[in-house]
Amino acid sequence: MSGSYRFQDHYFHRAKKDHYLARAFYKLEEIQKRHRLMRRGDRVLDLGAAPGSWVQLVSGVVGPSGRVVAVDIKPMEHPFEGNVTILERDVFEDAFLEELQRDHGTFDVVLSDMAPATSGIRSADSARSSLLFERALAVAEATLRPGGHFLAKIFQGSEFHDLLVRVKQRFRQVKVVKPDASRKVSKEIYILGMELKG
Ligand SMILES: C[S@@+](CC[C@H](N)C(=O)[O-])C[C@H]1O[C@@H](n2cnc3c(N)ncnc32)[C@H](O)[C@@H]1O
Repeated sequence: MSGSYRFQDHYFHRAKKDHYLARAFYKLEEIQKRHRLMRRGDRVLDLGAAPGSWVQLVSGVVGPSGRVVAVDIKPMEHPFEGNVTILERDVFEDAFLEELQRDHGTFDVVLSDMAPATSGIRSADSARSSLLFERALAVAEATLRPGGHFLAKIFQGSEFHDLLVRVKQRFRQVKVVKPDASRKVSKEIYILGMELKG
């Protein structure tokens, strides 16, 4: 058994045992513990939210006075807490941003764990991941309050550095984060932008 297989197995089984919807839970938990990007009462937008383990975590962190708007192309059927709103949408739909702004106003935090269906061709997968990241950044710029935070996944590839520069132009503090719960062999990494400039 290879090291990476054992590693996946550990978080997969831990998520099942703890009744979380995906092992991804532990990635956000680790980032939240280290960087405290969400607080009680926050309004959080979660892009690429299915099956919903981040929603489980965020819903508990923000509590009944907060709100989670969870968006995915795929349906989410889990019975979440009352502070969660589910939107089954493609983030590239023309009307999506307008709908968000009209019906949900501004957010304190925008998260994106969006990932493309992978082909195994690294350059193609990272290009598609970059488009998702770019869209998440555009949504964050349009819906975050000044001082709000942004966390989004990207597969490292040729577009990574340009996108990192763009996040640095818009946020006061920027970090590149690779949680322990993310597979070492995976090219995925998270860019964290804290405090959107006014
Ligand atoms: C790694 S999963 C997210 C896991 C989630 N954070 C959790 O904890 O359960 C990535 C998700 O991105 C979604 N996604 C990919 N492209 C999308 C798009 N254009 N619009 C909305 N969601 C998208 C996929 O459907 C998939 O459910």
